[in-house]
Amino acid sequence: ISIQVMKIYAKEISKMSKIILTGDRPTGRLHVGHYVGSLKERVKLQNSGEYDEIYIMIADAQALTDNAEHPEKVRQNIMNVALDYLACGIDPEKCHIFIQSMVPELTELTFYYMNLVTVSRVQRNPTVKSEIQMRNFEASIPVGFFTYPISQAADITAFKANVVPVGEDQLPMLEQTKEIVRKFNSVYGDTLVEPEILLPENQACLRLPGTDGKAKMSKSLGNCIYLSEEPDEIQKKVFSMFTDPTHIKVSDPGKLEGNTVFTYLDAFSRPEHFERYLPDYANLDELKAHYQRGGLGDVKVKKFLNNVLQEELEPIRSRRAEFAKDIPEIYNILKKGSDAAREVAAQTLSEVKSAMKINYFEDMDLIKAQSEKYAK
Ligand code: TRP
Repeated sequence: ISIQVMKIYAKEISKMSKIILTGDRPTGRLHVGHYVGSLKERVKLQNSGEYDEIYIMIADAQALTDNAEHPEKVRQNIMNVALDYLACGIDPEKCHIFIQSMVPELTELTFYYMNLVTVSRVQRNPTVKSEIQMRNFEASIPVGFFTYPISQAADITAFKANVVPVGEDQLPMLEQTKEIVRKFNSVYGDTLVEPEILLPENQACLRLPGTDGKAKMSKSLGNCIYLSEEPDEIQKKVFSMFTDPTHIKVSDPGKLEGNTVFTYLDAFSRPEHFERYLPDYANLDELKAHYQRGGLGDVKVKKFLNNVLQEELEPIRSRRAEFAKDIPEIYNILKKGSDAAREVAAQTLSEVKSAMKINYFEDMDLIKAQSEKYAK
């Protein structure tokens, strides 16, 4: 076959390649919400063998957009997040785990994408809106924070990622990224790849509430169960979980809606857990039906949830402790991942700059045309 045909063929194949990019801000240890919302999914995708490249980014630069005064917090939490990743089963042989700021090409891409987005469009981004409210930023939004959805578009497009497994709160970021891709491609020619979000199928995993029943899990509210949590802490948090405040006597009928213990069971329990810890019930539906009828006390359900969570988190906690014995090796993994990520991002940046015609020194046509122009 001719070179021409081979080129088209190669392009088709590269179009079909499946590339993942995702990441987390290093502002604390990761918790069970991260786990069911995204980490568990990533490990499944990694082990499916269906993806050509997987990039997992520790978003330190993004974390600094609202932590400018706390660089040490961000710096310390890079290791926490890396250990949580490895503990969950993210395998550095199969994924590139990297640190965002070690790939400066991402910043350069962000700068060019900024010209393709209006201030009012970012203002309408629901995630940015609620985060501004949460941080009481109304009158004093750092410009860097305001533009982080644009930098997130750079993170995704730099790797030509077409699949982004994240929590539901990131949907507006993906929408914004798609718009930037379309705008870029229509102005400068086909260069960037439009990504799709990948959400967990299980509804309960989409937005796991805090142990107090509040929608938002946060360190300051003390309502998260961390992946690295000690067994007695897990138990304490499970036993203090929000349930149905009108379910007072065991014989009272109980409500499932807004009942955190049942939401967690929806997210975590499997039939084999019933066999092991609660053989009187075949599955969660039977347990729910009994609770709704009345005659089932909160303590029994909480004991079950505690068993389930202890079983799920024990191997994560022990793997984490194992990895933590060799911190220099973790930095090696991050360095290797960052070098690999940088190479790919540099290639995309170079394509972006050619498309935008800001590749002066490599553009022989420009040099030739101007030579002729000035010779006249
Ligand atoms: N915003 C994500 C978070 O808060 C982190 C992140 C940064 C990210 N860039 C990304 C996620 C690109 C997915 C894709 O956890």
